[in-house]
Amino acid sequence: MAIEFELNGESVSLDADAAMPLLWAIRDVAGLTGTKYGCGKALCGSCTVHVNGQPMRSCVVPASVAEGATVTTIEGLTEDGNHPVQVAWRELNVAQCGYCQSGQIMSAVALLERIPDPSDADIDEAMSGNICRCGTYTRIRKAIHRAAGDKS
Ligand code: FES
Ligand code: FES
Repeated sequence: MAIEFELNGESVSLDADAAMPLLWAIRDVAGLTGTKYGCGKALCGSCTVHVNGQPMRSCVVPASVAEGATVTTIEGLTEDGNHPVQVAWRELNVAQCGYCQSGQIMSAVALLERIPDPSDADIDEAMSGNICRCGTYTRIRKAIHRAAGDKS
């Protein structure tokens, strides 16, 4: 079936089974491979995208949830890769292997849209579902503060 929605600011019609995980529709049908498959069970956060502005684990929701919705992936965060979160990530060299990082960034952006100046506790709570096997958690926390305007 055709699933029609707004993907990264553009109207798209994807030929995907309604029950297909949204992650597969994004990666295999739309060809946007920045969103990663980690666990497939909503446990790691590497597949995080925004659906109508809310962070969502795209591995466990059917593609049909996108129908009529606005979906943003890491590719659509900004045109030039200079979202404040992405800038902070680069300034602080957050990424190690990088595999988890698009999910981390999408969760961080959602957090900052909800809480513009989050505390450590806010960050820990919001980011606790995003697993990083490389252990970049300390830099992630620092980068979120940096993106919020804290230059320390
Ligand atoms: S791949 Fe979706 S939460 Fe791990
Ligand atoms: S940077 Fe390697 S898993 Fe997070």
